[in-house]
Amino acid sequence: MKEKQDGNENGNKETQTQKGERKKERKKKERKKKERKKERKKEKTERKKERLCRVKNGRKGGKSEPIRVLVTGAAGQIAYSLLFSIAKGDVFGKDQRSSPLTRRTWPSTTWTVAILVGSMPRKEGMERKDLLKANVAIFKSQGAALEKYAKKTVKVLVVGNPANTNCLIAAKSAPSIPKENFSCLTRLDHNRARSQVAMRCGVPATHVKNVIIWGNHSSTQYPDVHHCLVNMSGSELACFEAVKDDAWLNGEFIATVQQRGAAVIKARKLSSAMSAAKAICDHMRDIWMGTAEGEFISMGVYSSGNAYGVPEDLIYSFPVQIKDKSWKIVEGLTINPFSKSKMEATAEELIDERDTAVSFLGV
Ligand code: LMR
Repeated sequence: MKEKQDGNENGNKETQTQKGERKKERKKKERKKKERKKERKKEKTERKKERLCRVKNGRKGGKSEPIRVLVTGAAGQIAYSLLFSIAKGDVFGKDQRSSPLTRRTWPSTTWTVAILVGSMPRKEGMERKDLLKANVAIFKSQGAALEKYAKKTVKVLVVGNPANTNCLIAAKSAPSIPKENFSCLTRLDHNRARSQVAMRCGVPATHVKNVIIWGNHSSTQYPDVHHCLVNMSGSELACFEAVKDDAWLNGEFIATVQQRGAAVIKARKLSSAMSAAKAICDHMRDIWMGTAEGEFISMGVYSSGNAYGVPEDLIYSFPVQIKDKSWKIVEGLTINPFSKSKMEATAEELIDERDTAVSFLGV
């Protein structure tokens, strides 16, 4: 009996101890639960903050919208440098998946950007317009494919030569995509002009800004430095003042830039590749990110109602500034008679190319 009582007493005592321990355990669990809840709340707030930040930076719904980039001629020598640069974030920003997710592709309605590189390349002794017949047909069908399959917001950059006229033909073959979405590459010439001035002044190319390439990506292009500024030991000088050699700027400099593509072909037996890829990246990065305050760059865009009297319905290289992925021709630049005549000569060549292309294709 005593044993039982003890047992009972002991049993009751044990139960109370156990009860106490269970209580302690429960409290511990509750504390942990509260902590987890607090942590989850904190994480949720962080995620919300990130999402808002991404939305603010132009991405939808908290998930980053993939930027789908179409590159034609992707097995060629320009794309050899270009694809890697795009994939590692030189164009659309570093906040990208870093591995080059390249693949052969099919028509898609989701292209954000189309970089049309593939075309018959120029050989030694040829002018770019000698490629007209072979290449405008390619760009007519590529324009038609974009019309059929691409987003209406797609940004199209034409690189294959003769780039301006190919670009015009592609744009005409895609009538439902705004003409402003099409541009052609003259950034290669722009970069060449910049580096010629920089070498002459003994400064890095980054110290030279606002050179202009007017007109055609051909030997009639006009590299204009009348509005160019050079940073010499911290002060910005007008290019003519910095170079101190007007004869060179009005003569050899222009010819060097106009003939640079041919000089590269002569030296390499192949047309430019890495510099072209770099220029493509510069061009598309500026479309994407905008141009720096107070700076302008050159690109071939559709001429319509411009202040410089450039004939309508051409893809002509102008100085442009870019904001929110839209370009605007820089207005109010004074044009002297020397510049005016050079701008007209290159426009005439473009009119001629356009008319020849249209007669080939009937667009
Ligand atoms: C260049 O300028 O280097 C390219 O457009 C290739 C060419 O045909 O000159």
